[in-house]
Amino acid sequence: MSNQAKLELDGKTYVLPTLTGSENEKAVDISALRANTGYITIDDGYGNTGSCTSNITFIDGDQGILRYRGIPIEELAEKSNFVETAFLIIYGELPTRAQLKWFSDLFTANQYLHEDMTYHFQGFPSGAHPMAILSAMINAASCYDEDLMHWQWGKNQQFDIYVARLLSQVRTIAAYSYRKSKGLPPIYPKQSYKYTANLLHMMFSNPYEDFELKPEVVKALDLIFLLHADHEQNCSTSTVRMVASSQANLFASCAAGVCALWGPLHGGANQAVIEMLQQIHKEGDDGSKFITAAKDRNSGKKLMGFGHRVYKNYDPRAKIIKKACDEVLLKLNINDPLLDIAKRLEEAALKDPYFVERKLYPNVDFYSGIIMRAIGIPVEMFTVMFAIGRMPGWIANYKEIMEEPKSRIYRPRQIYTGHTLNHYVPLEDRK
Ligand code: SDX
Repeated sequence: MSNQAKLELDGKTYVLPTLTGSENEKAVDISALRANTGYITIDDGYGNTGSCTSNITFIDGDQGILRYRGIPIEELAEKSNFVETAFLIIYGELPTRAQLKWFSDLFTANQYLHEDMTYHFQGFPSGAHPMAILSAMINAASCYDEDLMHWQWGKNQQFDIYVARLLSQVRTIAAYSYRKSKGLPPIYPKQSYKYTANLLHMMFSNPYEDFELKPEVVKALDLIFLLHADHEQNCSTSTVRMVASSQANLFASCAAGVCALWGPLHGGANQAVIEMLQQIHKEGDDGSKFITAAKDRNSGKKLMGFGHRVYKNYDPRAKIIKKACDEVLLKLNINDPLLDIAKRLEEAALKDPYFVERKLYPNVDFYSGIIMRAIGIPVEMFTVMFAIGRMPGWIANYKEIMEEPKSRIYRPRQIYTGHTLNHYVPLEDRK
């Protein structure tokens, strides 16, 4: 079977090459289309456009499959942890014991922010959204590092240090932004604590006593980070690649990813889901009123945490999180009415022709907020937790572009639909 595509345009036939990925995904290569035909393609929302080839994450949206470097998310969720999975995503293989120690020691050595950063925190109003703080402070943190300010694209021997510094400091920044929002003094990281435990310590301890680190709480948050660690070319990861393609430094590219993730259609959905469930609970709605509104495009309401550009089946992460919800709430002896509402909404939606016809299923954000609420994470910090979890994926995509010998700046085209030739009209002649 020919692996070429034929295109008939203006009476001429053009032959376009195709490519097939390791999981048999197929693409028509249009890299030479404009040069050969004068045409470009247009694809609203890039739903049919591949920006790159990548070795990091594979998703089969119809089957509900997600694999990091070939390993199914279900196996990693059951057997791995966030730091080990971050190594896998960034460096391509599961770490040996020695590599894991090297990675973990790098985190510990790079977890402190420059003390002057506290002045930046003082500048934020107490109501500042932690995602605004996170994005700003990632760039601010880079200002204390000479090499980041004079970034040698592709030649930076210290790249692993920057990987560890970003992964480690994003946690410290997140904790500081939480403490700032509560008017509390910052708590410094502890050398003896591992990644996720240290974040909880920095958020919830006080200067006089350490936060009681319940193993089930640490494990639940670590699972949330692991499940969010990468997701191929989603909106924020594509943003990171867009900025990286200009050869900007790693911190600048990931700070841009934070901004893209913040939107309620993307990572901000986890906060929007809880706010939706709280509204339904407050109104005493059994969910049916809200579902009716969500089906009406004019209502301005969506069933947040439902639907996905790629998954036209149950998001495998949502399945894992839903199961973890029941386990964590049972262990913590919490009975959250919002979980019952969420389950009722899911049951009703999955039987409703509107959602069934559009293949709308729960996505990663539908249940994640229930767990974060149960372990004491405030709702305004939910998307920050998503950003911490996604950092390995953003870094891995940055690294992939940086190591690609032929990487070019991302610069899409457009079809202009504005004024044709126009001329300046002096002010006095304008009506
Ligand atoms: C994440 O891309 C990723 O990989 C993202 C992510 C990751 O890990 O990085 O998985 C994380 O961002 C998950 C998605 C979180 N967002 C939400 O939960 C917000 C609610 N969902 C929708 O906004 C929507 O489903 C999107 C944004 C997720 C997907 O949007 P698309 O692919 O552009 O689909 P669409 O808006 O064109 O919807 C198609 C139809 C429309 O109806 P019709 O025009 O056919 O009548 O489905 C409807 C939409 O109105 N629809 C919904 C709906 N989602 C889609 N109707 C009600 N409620 C919803 N949630």
